[in-house]
Amino acid sequence: MSGGVYGGDEVGALVFDFGHYSIRAGYAGEDTPKADIPTMVGVVEEQVSDAMEVNGNNACNESSTQKKHYIDTTNIHVPRKGMELCSFLKDGMIEDWDLFERVLDYVYSKHIKSEPHLHPVLMSETSWNARSKREKLTEVMFEKYNIPAFFLSKNAVLAAFANGRSTGIVVDSGASQTSAVPVHDGYVLAQAIVKSPLAGDFISMQCKQYLEENHVEIIPPYMIASKEAVKENDPAKWVKKSNLPEVTKSWHNYLVKQVLQDFQSSVLQVYETQYDKEVVENLPTVHHEFPNGYNQDFGAERFQIPEALFDPTNIKGITGTTIGAAQVVTTSVGMCDIDVRPSLYGGVILTGGNTLIQGFTERLNRDLSAKTPPSMRLKVISSNNGAERRFGSWIGGSILASLGTFQQMWITKQEYDEGGKTQVERKCP
Ligand SMILES: Nc1ncnc2c1ncn2[C@@H]1O[C@H](COP(=O)(O)OP(=O)(O)OP(=O)(O)O)[C@@H](O)[C@H]1O
Ligand SMILES: [Mg+2]
Repeated sequence: MSGGVYGGDEVGALVFDFGHYSIRAGYAGEDTPKADIPTMVGVVEEQVSDAMEVNGNNACNESSTQKKHYIDTTNIHVPRKGMELCSFLKDGMIEDWDLFERVLDYVYSKHIKSEPHLHPVLMSETSWNARSKREKLTEVMFEKYNIPAFFLSKNAVLAAFANGRSTGIVVDSGASQTSAVPVHDGYVLAQAIVKSPLAGDFISMQCKQYLEENHVEIIPPYMIASKEAVKENDPAKWVKKSNLPEVTKSWHNYLVKQVLQDFQSSVLQVYETQYDKEVVENLPTVHHEFPNGYNQDFGAERFQIPEALFDPTNIKGITGTTIGAAQVVTTSVGMCDIDVRPSLYGGVILTGGNTLIQGFTERLNRDLSAKTPPSMRLKVISSNNGAERRFGSWIGGSILASLGTFQQMWITKQEYDEGGKTQVERKCP
C-alpha cells in the first residue's frame, strides 16, 4: 500500500464537528468555526398527486409524498404548517443518512462556499461510534463527496488537544448528555467511558417544569404580535399573532426550548458546595424578562435547578439511577488502570456548552477534591472563553489538521480506492 501522505494542493482542510445542539464547520487553522448551525432540520411532507387520465376520466389518482427540508437558524424559525423538526443524530451517532447528507450539502454550498472535492476533511465522532457507521461515513465522504482525503477523530481526543493535552479525562456536558472519556496518549480508553443524561436538555426540562409549576407562561417570540412593558411580577400584556399556520408540537417545543435555554444561560448558577436552601436564599437574585414581557427576580431556584447536575437525588420525573457530574468522573477513572489514574486526575478537561452554567467548574473541582485521595494531584482544566469551551472539539480538529506531522495521517483517496472503507479502522483508531 502506498504511503498516506496527502500530497494535495494548497486548498485548506475542512473540520466538521457534530453535536445534538449544533453543527460546527470551518477551515483547519482558524480559531473558530465558520458555521455553527442548529442540528435540527425542518421537514415538511407535501402531497403530490399525479392524476392519470384514462379514457378522459380520472381513473387512477395516485398520490405520493415529497419532503421539503429547511436548514439553518433563519429557515427553521419560520412557522410553517406541518413542519416537524428532526435530527440526523441519535446518541451522538448518525442515524438518518439522508438528512445528514442534506445538511452537509447545505454547509458546503452556503457556508464553506466551495466544492467538496477540493478539501481534505477531518470529522469528529463520538467516542462510542459504531464500526459500521464509521465505515459508512468513510464511504459516503469518498464516494458521494469525492473528497481527496479523510480523517475521523474522537471528539474527546480533539477537546483534549484543544486544551494542549494528549492525556486526561474529558468531561463533556453538551445538550444530550454528560460524559467522561479517559484519553491516554491521544487514544480513548473506551472500556471506561461513563455517560449520564443530566446535561443541557435535561436542565431545560427542569426549568420548564419549575416555571410551569409557578404559573410562568413560556411564550416563544413567534407567537407574539406586540407586548407592553409591565411591572415586575405583574401578568404579561401581549397580543397573539393572528393567522399563524398550524405548527407541529415538535416545532413549537423547539422554540419553547430556546426561551428556556436563554433563561438557563442567563439566570442559573451552580452553588459552590451542596445546595442549602437557607444559604442560597440570601444570595443575590437575578432579574429576567421573558419574550412576552413578564419579568421577575429569581433567587433560590437559580441554584436549586442546576443542583441536579451534581446531586441528582431529589430529581422529580426521572426514573432509574443517575449519577452526578463528579461521580461520572470518578466512576470512569475507577475503571481505568491504576497506573494511569494520576494522569487523569491531573488533567480533568471540561468542554461542552452546559459547562458554561455559572459555577460549574468550581463545583466540579470541589466535589472531585472531596472524592479523590489527598495524595492525588487534581487539576481541572477549563477555558475561560465561552467559545473555546463550546467549540473544544472543533478547535482541536482545527489544530490537528493543520499540523505538519499530521499530513501523513490522512486516509487518501488513493488508499481508499485501493483498500476500501475498512481503511478507517486501520488509520483512525
Ligand atoms: N452560556 C451558557 N450557559 C449555560 N448553558 C449553555 C450556555 N451556552 C450553551 N449552553 C447549553 O449547552 C448545550 C449545548 O452544548 P453543546 O454545543 O456543547 O452541545 P452539542 O455538542 O451540540 O450536543 P451533544 O454534546 O449533546 O451532542 C445546550 O443545552 C445549551 O442550552
Ligand atoms: Mg457535544
